[in-house]
Amino acid sequence: MILIDGKKTSEILQSEIAQEVDNMKNKGEKVPHLAAVLVGHDGGSETYVAGKVKACERVGFESTLIRFEDTVSEKELLDCIGKLNLDSKIDGFIVQLPLPKHISEEKIIEAINPHKDVDGFNPVNVGRMVAGLPAFIAATPFGIMELIKRYGIETAGKNCVVIGRSNIVGRPISILLSQKGIDCTVTLCHSRTKNLKEICAEADIIVAALGMAEFLTGEMVKQGAVVIDVGITRVVSDKTKSGWKLLGDVKFDEVAPKCSYITPVPGGVGPMTIASLLYNTLLSTKREIYK
Ligand code: GUN
Repeated sequence: MILIDGKKTSEILQSEIAQEVDNMKNKGEKVPHLAAVLVGHDGGSETYVAGKVKACERVGFESTLIRFEDTVSEKELLDCIGKLNLDSKIDGFIVQLPLPKHISEEKIIEAINPHKDVDGFNPVNVGRMVAGLPAFIAATPFGIMELIKRYGIETAGKNCVVIGRSNIVGRPISILLSQKGIDCTVTLCHSRTKNLKEICAEADIIVAALGMAEFLTGEMVKQGAVVIDVGITRVVSDKTKSGWKLLGDVKFDEVAPKCSYITPVPGGVGPMTIASLLYNTLLSTKREIYK
């Protein structure tokens, strides 16, 4: 069994990005500039955005954090997005989700210029990805594809089962794995799927992205399978200093011994997401997606 090291792979990808930023600086080119919009004071969002800003510093990007109280109106937020869309200094930006209930996330995402949508959430980028056109790919599916490629995992003709059909993980990863050149035969499963156990037991590759702690058990996985665990559920624990720990969607102790490759939680898919966002911002600055 090979443990897929997302932390190390993310560090390698970030050092490649930092090298490219150095090259750009040496040639007198503009350095990538990422902006993040944060609404309110949700603990999780604060942590994610702080991590993104710190990562920008690490690779030599410029970054701007724009904060609003959670009383901000939808119109004020849309005005801010309009300004960022037009600001030539900003190469890409994200609006951290979730947003307060009185603001439509769909409206906000649709207002972001697809050329600057480094989260890859705007329907234009989603549609381009589905059509096989150059597009900004969302961080988690991008990170999973990068791990599969960098570990040399064979995909052509393999049976792949994706559990979970969310817009930001399950559905896009099912499309990326079935695209030409990757060539998996993909089954997308969800809460209404019948015979899930039997379907999983036939899979060469399983992507567990349903958000239920330790859902995938040993009996659901065939010998030699590749298992990618996207889950991150916080549970209380009397064994850690903080009083809580992270659990994936995979019952690791049961599943890992049967796998050829598996991602741990934490330290698997999670660390790849920040590197993916930085990579998209670099692509945006270099006009690699929309030429
Ligand atoms: N909230 C949780 N994950 C993400 C993400 O990747 N991007 C944004 N904008 N918000 C999030």
